[in-house]
Amino acid sequence: MKDPAMSKPAVLVSRDLFPEVVARLRQHFEVDDNPADEVLAGEALRLRLQHRQGLLAAGGERISAELLAACPALRVVANMAVGYNNIDVPACTARGVLVTNTPDVLTETTADFGFALMMATARRMAEAERFLRAGLWTKWRYDLLTGSDVHGATLGILGMGRIGQAIARRGAAGFGMRVVYHNRSRLPPATEAALGAQWVGKAELLAQSDHLVLVLPYSAASHHAIGAAELAQMKPGATLTNIARGGIVDDAALAAALRAGRIAAAGLDVFEGEPAVHPELLALPNVVLTPHIASASLRTRRAMADLAADNLIAALTGGAPPTPVNAELLGPRG
Ligand code: DGY
Repeated sequence: MKDPAMSKPAVLVSRDLFPEVVARLRQHFEVDDNPADEVLAGEALRLRLQHRQGLLAAGGERISAELLAACPALRVVANMAVGYNNIDVPACTARGVLVTNTPDVLTETTADFGFALMMATARRMAEAERFLRAGLWTKWRYDLLTGSDVHGATLGILGMGRIGQAIARRGAAGFGMRVVYHNRSRLPPATEAALGAQWVGKAELLAQSDHLVLVLPYSAASHHAIGAAELAQMKPGATLTNIARGGIVDDAALAAALRAGRIAAAGLDVFEGEPAVHPELLALPNVVLTPHIASASLRTRRAMADLAADNLIAALTGGAPPTPVNAELLGPRG
């Protein structure tokens, strides 16, 4: 008979993942993986998780107090994302469930994408490609698909954490942009000087930005941080880029503002209720739409998976998880 003291902890890998990473997890755990890549939610997630000690989550699974109550064996949720708004962290902490995320490894890749999406939006790249593929390019015109300049423009950043700062560096150093930002906590003066970024109030940020990029975490406080009232304060020719989270922008209000020409264009990688996209956004020409892929370079996705696995292994084998969210559960770390 199997000696329970010798058995490996049981973990669930919620979605299909790099085989090498799953193989590494199998060295430490009994792994229930998901090569069919079914999206696990509600009852299906509860059934798969209920007797397991660990979860490697892809970032979209909702880890609620109710789910935690149904999974009393659970000790760690390793989220393969820097954001963790899918997880009720206070409820995890109350139950002694460690939460980890994957910061740092995705910063530069996500900033590259945010900048690219902002540029594609300003210069109407998706619209231009659709125009060409539709066979509509028959002659030169002086104002054919004219967009707005990125170089020398004012770049506004809402949320100035690691990714916001990496975008600021690209704008200031690479494109000679004036960079303004708004964040609850202001950066130290030396960091602002190094980035070439200036803190402004939210109203000033909205009024001054030619290109506004959203990089703030989602929370109840940031829900609809950009709605009809905020869009009304932006410059008529401005662009809005969201690589943060759906729900930070009121998508219906954004669609109305774009339709009315209130702002020039939007670049969106995240959506309220994704993977569903507001039908009015799908119908508008002046929106660049991408399916939540800002961190999706192969190297970075592998680094995120490796870090999530490192966290899971350390948490369940007595090591020090590298990137805990509710680190208070670990006690003082020497
Ligand atoms: C993150 O890491 O938070 C990205 O948005 C992927 O979910």
